[in-house]
Amino acid sequence: MSKRKYCGDLSESHIGEIITLYGWVNKVRDHGGVIFVDLRDTKGVTQVVFNPEEKEIFNISERLRNEFIIKISGKVRARPQDAENKNLSSGSVEIVATEIEILSEAQTPPYSFDDDVSEDVRLKHRFHDLKSKKMQKNIIFRSELIKVIRDFLYDKGFIDIETPILTKATPEGARDFLVPSRLNKGDFYALPQSPQLFKQLLMMSGFERYYQIAKCFRDEDLRADRQPEFTQLDIEQSFESSESLINLVEEMFQIIFKKLKNVEVKVPFKKLTYQECIDQYGTDAPDLRILLQLNKVDHIFEKTEFEIFRKPANDKNCKVSALVVPGKDISRKDIDDYTDYVSKLGAKGLAYIKCNDINNIPEGLQSPLIKFLDENILKNLLDFLQVKNGDIIFFSAGESDFVNKIMSELRVIIGNQKNLKNSALEILWVTDFPMFEYDKNAMKWKAIHHPFTKPLNFNKDSDLASVMSDSYDLVLNGVEIGGGSSRINEYDDQIKVLKVLGLDDAEIQEKFGFFIDALKFGCPPHGGIAFGIDRIAMLLLEMSSIRDVIAFPKTQSGTCLMTDAPTLINNNQLKDLGINTDKKK
Ligand code: AMO
Ligand code: AMP
Repeated sequence: MSKRKYCGDLSESHIGEIITLYGWVNKVRDHGGVIFVDLRDTKGVTQVVFNPEEKEIFNISERLRNEFIIKISGKVRARPQDAENKNLSSGSVEIVATEIEILSEAQTPPYSFDDDVSEDVRLKHRFHDLKSKKMQKNIIFRSELIKVIRDFLYDKGFIDIETPILTKATPEGARDFLVPSRLNKGDFYALPQSPQLFKQLLMMSGFERYYQIAKCFRDEDLRADRQPEFTQLDIEQSFESSESLINLVEEMFQIIFKKLKNVEVKVPFKKLTYQECIDQYGTDAPDLRILLQLNKVDHIFEKTEFEIFRKPANDKNCKVSALVVPGKDISRKDIDDYTDYVSKLGAKGLAYIKCNDINNIPEGLQSPLIKFLDENILKNLLDFLQVKNGDIIFFSAGESDFVNKIMSELRVIIGNQKNLKNSALEILWVTDFPMFEYDKNAMKWKAIHHPFTKPLNFNKDSDLASVMSDSYDLVLNGVEIGGGSSRINEYDDQIKVLKVLGLDDAEIQEKFGFFIDALKFGCPPHGGIAFGIDRIAMLLLEMSSIRDVIAFPKTQSGTCLMTDAPTLINNNQLKDLGINTDKKK
């Protein structure tokens, strides 16, 4: 009896064995009488040889085309030394086929894996695309990532509990996906944006340590690291401090990095407060691989005659931010390109000072600003920023949120373009988030994390902008991979926060009645966190799109090119659901 083996597992140790392989025909080569087939399975590729002497099976092998699915048996032999294929893990051996069975024939595939096809073509034929080496590797890696996580949390005493998909709106700040109810015409379920409320209810139910690999759904604008449906690792625990959760997460990531990337990461991870991040990087998810920092320079320009800087320097909602790019050749064209870039984002300009000779002010400085700035201010500025000859300083001035956005993007663009970055992994905790922020468009306060986060120093006289929360995000290479917090566990405190967010008693009852009522029946102090599994897989695999680590992802416009979802629904189905729409099949 021949033994089933996998193509990618074969090596010299199998020489002489009779084995069976199942797989896909990767390539067929007819070498004047002898047919060579590269056979592919989930573990790799191996070469199968069909000799004309074995007439019956040779005749069958002549019918083989790419992507046929076959079963073969034969003897493993060493390849002649000059025919070894260093690109295959099993490249030093081949199988001489003595049996073959065609299990499934295949039409000419939609494209070859060597072709440079667009992502749309790949997504339309995803069943085929997933056979590629890259996608096999990514999807298998993702499965391994989830196994490492499950093993770790199981060992730590966490219980895996599923929570509903057909549920009520959960507030994570995005729009809900809704599902009409047939049995309750006119009513809708919402798909969960996260299992937030359910996991907190599980804490109230006494399941002290919970986790779930949970599907979440958010109807929001998509980008390279955002999908409408994605997967979270959701964790919650009772009676433990935030510090204990942070330690647990650090240990988990140490194991993930070690097992999956063979990389040792040092703990504790770096920590920066939210405010430090905004001041130094203009964002709460900074990429610390980039070796550039922003500086708030308001105090330097408070008294300048240059109004474009003086005004924001004296307004608490505005700022002047400076980015020093050290001694790299920044050409006139670079400056024009950066200026164009920030203009497209809506900036009125991008001031700069090129510091050719810092001991010769102002002649040694090159800038459209020189005529507006007096020598003392320039000197203070150069001292404060500790610039060196050859450095260039870029400035953005205006409303703080806007300046932060412009400068954080510019920092990343220049850092990448001029290679001012290191290649190590940069993992960072961002802590001490404010609890609330004022949404100028909606003209109301909203929770920076979510309304169930525990506020600190919150009493009835608190200035809402200065209330902090016990919350933390984890950022890997500039991408937010997780976020969590301690939670409110008192009914009165929860009501107070929901009221700040503009909900009245009736709205609170309607939206969260089930949850706040449960709080009245006892709730242990608890906290938790959730991670984006897709994002973690994307970063560890160094992919630029989240779609490359999801078997069947959606496009940027939320469609599935393979199934054509979302689609029109026929009239009868709509009638059943009690739904009227103008767009009918
Ligand atoms: P948050 O909204 O920060 O927190 O989500 C947690 C993590 O989920 C990932 N993520 C996404 N990944 C892909 N596509 C998306 N559209 C998407 N949205 C979020 C991110 C993010 O860090 N309930 C809280 C967690 C908690 O407090 O325990 C929550 O969902 O990596
Ligand atoms: P102007 O007087 O408008 O020509 O501006 C003088 C310089 O300031 C130019 O280099 C502009 O690019 C720059 N500038 C104008 N507005 C801003 C701003 N809000 N932030 C930074 N630089 C600006």
